[in-house]
Amino acid sequence: MVQSLDQIRRPIQSELNAFERYFRDSMRSRVPLLDRITYYIVRRKGKQVRPMFVFLTARLFGPVHESSYRAAALIELLHTASLVHDDVVDDAHRRRGFFSVNALWKNKVAVLVGDFLLARGMLLALENEEYPLLQIMSRAVKDMSEGELLQMEKARRLDISEEVYFDIIRQKTASLIAAACAAGASSAGASLEEVEQMRLFGEKIGIAFQIRDDLFDLGDDDVGKPRGIDIKEKKMTLPLIYALQRAGRAERRRIIRLVKYHHEEQPAIDEVIRFVHGSGGMDYAREVMARYRNEAFEMLYTFPPSEVRHALESLVLFVTERKR
Ligand code: IPE
Ligand code: IPE
Ligand code: MG
Ligand code: MG
Repeated sequence: MVQSLDQIRRPIQSELNAFERYFRDSMRSRVPLLDRITYYIVRRKGKQVRPMFVFLTARLFGPVHESSYRAAALIELLHTASLVHDDVVDDAHRRRGFFSVNALWKNKVAVLVGDFLLARGMLLALENEEYPLLQIMSRAVKDMSEGELLQMEKARRLDISEEVYFDIIRQKTASLIAAACAAGASSAGASLEEVEQMRLFGEKIGIAFQIRDDLFDLGDDDVGKPRGIDIKEKKMTLPLIYALQRAGRAERRRIIRLVKYHHEEQPAIDEVIRFVHGSGGMDYAREVMARYRNEAFEMLYTFPPSEVRHALESLVLFVTERKR
């Protein structure tokens, strides 16, 4: 059964409350404009699944430690920075059901706010001499930038294969969830080998997470951010890649032309979406997503049953069943 996030949070509720204070305080600035914007960001908070992964994976290995709070705050800071930048890159004006930072304050402000959040996060680790955490996080930041740039390169040429799609989402999204699980384990004293196992666990979850997100873009439900925007930005995601692979030559050419030359026009976007729905692309992506989720479950079952393992299991299930 799919549990709500509130239910899943229960075993780590006190940790998450302390995290929220820590997160909020870490964003403070004496520059009034910056302080107004970070206040806005904190009020419109997201699901905070990455801090949940930090605390739950930490608890698999031992009690939550001061380091676990730093890891959770750093990861949510980087995640927030990446969203602020991503909305500039994607030219998206809606986020978490409201205006994005670039929509309210313009791109130049959003770029600098993202940099501030990134630097704040890194300082948080550095000030506390958290070198393993810094290493885990620097790798994730590098991967995320590479992933977004690889995606842009492919959007220009529209020649993306499934293999490249997985490379992109592993880098741009899975890397941070992988880092959350690795940092959680590391903060609770797990061995290097265990940390690497948890990184792999998080990577599988992260891939499933982005497939779910890509399905949202082609779906009918309001998820608090724009839909159809992937096609508008010429991002080829798994359902479309699959649908194109199965199409005949003429249809394939027709759809590629729509994406290439008419991607800014709503009727063309709608047509591409109809094409994907009509050719089993959505179901195929759901199957692949379930496969990654199940691999994550298998890794989890190597741990003895406990309240924490159960919560993690529910959180993994939430990733693929979520409605936003
Ligand atoms: C959105 O992440 C960006 C992706 C990696 C798809 P989330 O869905 O975790 O965003 P918030 O923080 O809950 O808004
Ligand atoms: C994930 O890609 C973004 C990041 C890794 C920052 P998307 O561009 O699909 O994310 P959303 O849909 O805008 O949240
Ligand atoms: Mg985006
Ligand atoms: Mg998206």
